[in-house]
Amino acid sequence: GTEQTAAGREDAPQVIAHRGASAYAPENTLAAVDLADEMGFAWVENDVQRTEDGELVVVHDDSLARTTDVEQKFPGRAPWKVKDFTAAEIATLDAGSWRGSEWAGARVPTLKQYLNRVDDNSQKLLLEIKKPELYPGIEKDTLRVLGEEGWLDRSHVRSRLVIQSFGADTVRAVHQQRPDVTTGFLGAPAVADLPLYAAFTDQINPSHTSLTAEYVAAVHSLKGAHGKPLRVSTWTVNDTAAAQRVAGFGVDGIITNNPDVVRDAVA
Ligand code: G3P
Ligand code: CA
Repeated sequence: GTEQTAAGREDAPQVIAHRGASAYAPENTLAAVDLADEMGFAWVENDVQRTEDGELVVVHDDSLARTTDVEQKFPGRAPWKVKDFTAAEIATLDAGSWRGSEWAGARVPTLKQYLNRVDDNSQKLLLEIKKPELYPGIEKDTLRVLGEEGWLDRSHVRSRLVIQSFGADTVRAVHQQRPDVTTGFLGAPAVADLPLYAAFTDQINPSHTSLTAEYVAAVHSLKGAHGKPLRVSTWTVNDTAAAQRVAGFGVDGIITNNPDVVRDAVA
């Protein structure tokens, strides 16, 4: 981040609303995007997977069971994998009621719907390609949808889009197919291996649990795929103490379910 804070610090980490403002609204729904916007957060993170008929949808687990009413609507279809349902079937599911009746009717958004809402809100997107091993070619599908929805134009690519994955091959494929797009690798490669990653990514995004100041410094000492210092966004940091700890390490971004808590902690 570049905002000057009350404490005079010029480099407070960017706060990224994980699955939207997911401590307060059902994760990965348009409601969670809108709530992050209302709370003043530009950056949202999401998870992208693929349906049986090839539509990209925004949902975290590879099964629909935890976050929708799929078990009631399709009782014979255990274990309710995203990849075994059509987009039309998924569109019938309620993805909000599990978080309370006030969220009833929230849907599993298609990536297209999600991108349009983030755009309508003038927000920015840290897009995770989830479980790429289940979805061969999903990076190509993701780039196609991004292009169709206007997200690969200059202004989006320059400052509003990062694509990340736990799959190194997937991140590398995104970089090769669209070298202009900013990418992130989810995980914490050995320091000795970081130069290999720096060839195709701009960010190394590890869990906060085993993160150290030395590791952040090692990442920052290298230049990423676009010639700028490799950045670090860490996840999933939901309390004041953890946020202050990783801010002290000099991370560039904090991915959080509780963006308000983290903003106050690092201000
Ligand atoms: O953005 C990073 C974080 O979301 C990775 O873990 O399981 O929440 O997708 P997960
Ligand atoms: Ca994620």
